Amino acid sequence: MGTKIIGTGSFVPDHVVTNNHLAELVETSDEWIRSRTGIAQRRISDSFGTSQMAAEASKRALENAHVKPEDIDLIIAATSTPDCCFPSAACEVQGILGAVNAVGMDVSAACSGFIFALSTVDAMIQTGMYKTALIIGVDNLSKIVDWSDRSTCVLFGDGAGAAVVRACDENGQGIIGGQIGSDGKKAAVLSCWSRTMGNFLTGKKPEPGYIVMEGQEVFKFAVKKVPECVEALMESMGIGMDEVKYLILHQANYRICESIARRLRISMDKIPMNIEKYGNTSGASIPLLLDELNREGKLKKGDKLVLAGFGAGLTWGAVLVEW
Ligand code: ACO
Repeated sequence: MGTKIIGTGSFVPDHVVTNNHLAELVETSDEWIRSRTGIAQRRISDSFGTSQMAAEASKRALENAHVKPEDIDLIIAATSTPDCCFPSAACEVQGILGAVNAVGMDVSAACSGFIFALSTVDAMIQTGMYKTALIIGVDNLSKIVDWSDRSTCVLFGDGAGAAVVRACDENGQGIIGGQIGSDGKKAAVLSCWSRTMGNFLTGKKPEPGYIVMEGQEVFKFAVKKVPECVEALMESMGIGMDEVKYLILHQANYRICESIARRLRISMDKIPMNIEKYGNTSGASIPLLLDELNREGKLKKGDKLVLAGFGAGLTWGAVLVEW
């Protein structure tokens, strides 16, 4: 049994926040942000919560796949910013869509979340338990950004991306292989304690927290770990990077992507980018970019794609797909 992506969708909020807008809030400049990150603007959600953004992206993915909500039997949402502790974002999306025959759950792997969700769904489909699944990457990071911290607030944006996958026979195109990894010892490099609980004994009230990041540590981790992971995956599958049409990377920083391209000895032509428009949308960035490429008609039957992410955990992962 194999797993094939049969449709994609995405959603970004209307509200555009440019670098110049941010320069009014903190001491920064359009020039600094563009040259260090490649970001020109990001979208910020004013009225849509995580589940609503996820549901909009999902509706578009279902339409693209010609699949009805009641035909989905599994929904996995990758998010670090669900609207609430429970229910899960996936269950909320299930309710909004009317996907009455599905079971829903979330996975938490920050910016690697979509890769983790795709790998999980692939494994579950291969057991024969499920046939048609909806996979969502969604984040509403603007709600956990400290807008007075210039070292983080310039990086992130809100959005959602989704893909519908279906079981196919092993000869059909689909997911060829994947690798995911984590290193919990490096958890402090990138964290957000927004779910800090109150304490009954001390009377301490729950406190909101914000994203805290050692930017250069994340940078060094990403440019080392992602190429290693991609190379290990390709070697295990016996496929060379020259056979791959696109390396669809998590959109965290243009310079990170350039460095990964150099280490993998591939041209930036193979690494599509949309960070300029959306910033780092965390779990949403890979499916958002995948959907853009799909809708622009850039993905042809038989194309080999590598999807790769990295993020808090620390986590990383890559999936090789034949379109
Ligand atoms: N505007 C102007 N100056 C700034 C800004 C800003 N927005 N932010 C930091 N600076 C200053 C710093 O204070 C520092 O000043 P100093 O030299 O006087 O101390 C100077 O710029 C250089 O700071 P660095 O942190 O060394 O800048 P760097 O070139 O490393 O760029 C950046 C910072 C863009 C954050 C980079 O390290 C990076 O992209 N790291 C990876 C981050 C990332 O990808 N995070 C997301 C991971 S995915 C996830 O799971 C959410």
